Amino acid sequence: MLAGRMQVGIVTLFPEMFTAVTSFGITGRACRDGIVEVACWSPRDYAKDRHGTVDDKPFSGGAGMLMKTGPLCDAIAAAKAWNDKTPSVIYLSPQGRRLDHTGVTLLAQRRNLVLVCGRYQGIDERVLKTEIDEEWSIGDYVLSGGELAAMVMLDAIIRYQPGALGHEDSAGLDSFADSNTGLSLLDCPRYTRPREFAGLTVPEVLIGGNHELVRRWQLKQRLGQTWLKRPDLLAQQSLDQHEQVLLNEFISEYGTLPT
Ligand SMILES: C[S@@+](CC[C@H](N)C(=O)[O-])C[C@H]1O[C@@H](n2cnc3c(N)ncnc32)[C@H](O)[C@@H]1O
Repeated sequence: MLAGRMQVGIVTLFPEMFTAVTSFGITGRACRDGIVEVACWSPRDYAKDRHGTVDDKPFSGGAGMLMKTGPLCDAIAAAKAWNDKTPSVIYLSPQGRRLDHTGVTLLAQRRNLVLVCGRYQGIDERVLKTEIDEEWSIGDYVLSGGELAAMVMLDAIIRYQPGALGHEDSAGLDSFADSNTGLSLLDCPRYTRPREFAGLTVPEVLIGGNHELVRRWQLKQRLGQTWLKRPDLLAQQSLDQHEQVLLNEFISEYGTLPT
């Protein structure tokens, strides 16, 4: 069980962007309820000149700027000092470890984080070496800044804080997480009213009220959806006999894969 609230300090030139996480939906509620405390530090507030300069020329010359080291390091120091305990300082970067479900559950265990959002061409290599503990990426593509990446990370880890999700939203049955089987599978198909929509009906088993049959159907669908959409993920799972039977059933009902 995780003890105490999580504190996340963000170093960003655009603090306002984070209201998307701190003010809306599940993450907004978690912030309001004190499950997670999020605060931003802008290097601009630590700029030494009257123009508030936060970028600087690279020694190599050529196109592009880097984040100015002084204001960036001062903002990181302030975000670290604000944390009650020594935080892990994370730089969001396309060169970092790629974020996935395992990474999210790992980061969600931490109580103290500082997320550093780069802009321009990024940060000086010596700042990386001296100030940053870990680099994390949200995928193999380049964004204009680390803010969206930090928000993706923040949203994903807040979902795993105790009390952040209502019972109906339990993260334990989402894709990649199955607290019942311990398998990493995709979610099963879900249906809401009406019973018939666009000429298609809700599977009978979901209407029958037999919870055991519903659970069986859901597991079979999770296995089947993963087989259909993410065979790479399915190959990493070791299925027990019951799960293998359910998957075989799904495959024979489905027929062969569409070409
Ligand atoms: C234009 S990018 C700089 C990219 C850098 N020159 C490189 O190629 O590695 C500006 C900032 O966006 C953030 N960023 C860009 N892509 C990202 C990704 N895939 N994951 C996490 N952060 C990313 C980083 O903080 C980075 O400093």
